[in-house]
Amino acid sequence: MILSIESSCDDSSIAITRISDSKLLFHKKISQEIDHSKYGGVVPELAARLHAIALPNILEECKEYFKDLKAVAVTNEPGLSVTLVEGVCMAKALSISLDIPLLPINHLKGHIYSLFIDNPETTFPMLVLLVSGGHTQLLHVEDYDNIEVLATTLDDSFGESFDKVAKMLGFGYPGGPVVEQSALKGDERKFDFTVPLLRTPKLAFSYSGLKNQVRLAIQDAPKSKDDICASFQFIATKHLTHKLKKVLQNRSFENFAIVGGASANKYLRGEIDKLCKIYNMSLHVADMQFCSDNAAMIGRCAIEAYKLKRFASLNDININPRTSF
Ligand code: KG4
Ligand code: ZN
Repeated sequence: MILSIESSCDDSSIAITRISDSKLLFHKKISQEIDHSKYGGVVPELAARLHAIALPNILEECKEYFKDLKAVAVTNEPGLSVTLVEGVCMAKALSISLDIPLLPINHLKGHIYSLFIDNPETTFPMLVLLVSGGHTQLLHVEDYDNIEVLATTLDDSFGESFDKVAKMLGFGYPGGPVVEQSALKGDERKFDFTVPLLRTPKLAFSYSGLKNQVRLAIQDAPKSKDDICASFQFIATKHLTHKLKKVLQNRSFENFAIVGGASANKYLRGEIDKLCKIYNMSLHVADMQFCSDNAAMIGRCAIEAYKLKRFASLNDININPRTSF
């Protein structure tokens, strides 16, 4: 079995995954959302202190598996440096005390492998839209090592733009679910926001301009929160589907997936589903509980890393807050 640890942002999570059949045997996550909500975003030092309390408590609950562990996996990149350190220190301590090897895992790769948790049907190659708090990337994934970045964001990410809109509207953190709920009650055509990068052929994403359009709308009509959320979500999603169509007009794929925290957004899922039907692709999404950060996806990814023997020694496991693909 592999014990996996996730602490890249504001979720403390540990999982146990069986190597022979990739089955998830134990999974617990303690989210800090309420603690950060009053600040309108994640406060890194507070997050680190809360991980230092939560992770040992979760570890206590899975002690029965220690005797069967073959490796300890941990998110070492990308993320907040002060919170990554918490997980990595715990992983090093377990590696020494249980005499098992360490597996450093890329968090973004973890999100991709969330599609495979207890789901033997999923297979590569796949076109993957990664929409998390820190990233918006379109990836062509062939296997663990071969990941081609087709498009990335020039500034804010999709999820981050929801957080920023929520903050401007006084909704608290995280913004995604609240903005999505508010949008359900609003009229998506009420505000005529423009789709970012519409006239450039560049394959890229950008959300800072849309965020500014929303800021001005809030100044003009502070009471129209639901309509603002609906119009924002409509255009934010249209931006994604517009760029996706550009890719799909030139290349064909059998499998399409959305991963990352924002892949929980039902409106986004619906629009991507329509696109998949037009371009004859099967749509893959992770179970809702595995969309946002969790250790189960790190554990599932670690099974591949274990098979490929991607072990790191105590001294060369580095924390890389900004790595991407
Ligand atoms: O993957 P994740 O849990 O953490 C990172 O790796 O960043 O993603 C968190 C992001 C946040 O920006 C959050 O607002 C967004 O995912 N999110 C959503 C929804 N649920 C979470 N965005 C839009 N709609 C949602 N329903
Ligand atoms: Zn994440």
